[in-house]
Amino acid sequence: MLIPDGVRDRLKSFAEDVREGLGRSGQKTLPSKYFYDEIGSALFEVITLLPEYGLTRAEERILDEHSGALREWLAAHSVVIELGSGYGRKTRRVLEALPCGQPITYCPIEICPAALESCVSGLKDLRHVRVLGLEAEYLDGLNLALARRESRERALVLFLGSSIGNFDRERGEEFLRAIRMALKPGDAMLLGTDLEKPLSKLIPAYDDSQGVTAAFNRNVLARINRELDGDFDLSRFEHVALYNARERRIEMHLRSVEDQTATVEGVEIEFQRDETIWTESCHKYGPCEAADMAERCGFECRDLWVDEEWPFAESFLLAV
Ligand code: AVI
Repeated sequence: MLIPDGVRDRLKSFAEDVREGLGRSGQKTLPSKYFYDEIGSALFEVITLLPEYGLTRAEERILDEHSGALREWLAAHSVVIELGSGYGRKTRRVLEALPCGQPITYCPIEICPAALESCVSGLKDLRHVRVLGLEAEYLDGLNLALARRESRERALVLFLGSSIGNFDRERGEEFLRAIRMALKPGDAMLLGTDLEKPLSKLIPAYDDSQGVTAAFNRNVLARINRELDGDFDLSRFEHVALYNARERRIEMHLRSVEDQTATVEGVEIEFQRDETIWTESCHKYGPCEAADMAERCGFECRDLWVDEEWPFAESFLLAV
């Protein structure tokens, strides 16, 4: 089989990250970005529809309710760049808020080729939107997209769905600073953050009754089996979602139900009973926390909308 260079490089980094994360002596980890292969992205799409997962619907309500204000902000921005677009379902709302006839370039940045393809083709009917999909990691994609714009064009970065919550708070702020460094004054960012809420709402959102989140979590092991010749027995790993109150985050883990050994690319990895692989962190915020973080990084918060039904904040941030 012919493996293109890009795919070969991607597999190499995947193998290195797996070796590093599962080979360590303390807490085993896997980076959450590896959830998003074709199956993982499809499972995430299902998560966003689950009754227990109110986050996406909250953000959609905010985008709908404030489409007038959004339209005014968007009038000044002709390039829209989305970090981690997925299938781009939410983005349609932003692009539809544009004044009729205003030409715009939309650059979805996404690491999952299947999700990116579907995002690009799904927006074909929006005549005023030129879609330029970039299969890349966040900052690489952002820099590529910005390099293509003309000097008079202003960019609006979309970082929706509380994806910033996958970084710890310090890294999240570093990331916002890196975005700001890539932008020019007058560019802007729309940043969605999920807010702190009672555990009775939060835990089921990450451990739903239909087991979709559990399947999403276990899929990372299935992906290792598919792509790195692994032999994980998925039935011997249990999905765990817990709230870390000190760090104010949900943590997802995969707990080994017994002592076992798995093999990845010929290397054996031992698991003790109850040992976990930490697969994701989803930090939760105070209503103004993300805007304050962004302001420390050279943005000015011009609008802040909060959904009351499922506490979620959307901040419109201007690069100053
Ligand atoms: C993409 N990300 C911000 C989601 C979240 O809610 O933190 C990922 C997710 N993981 C499990 N359910 C959803």
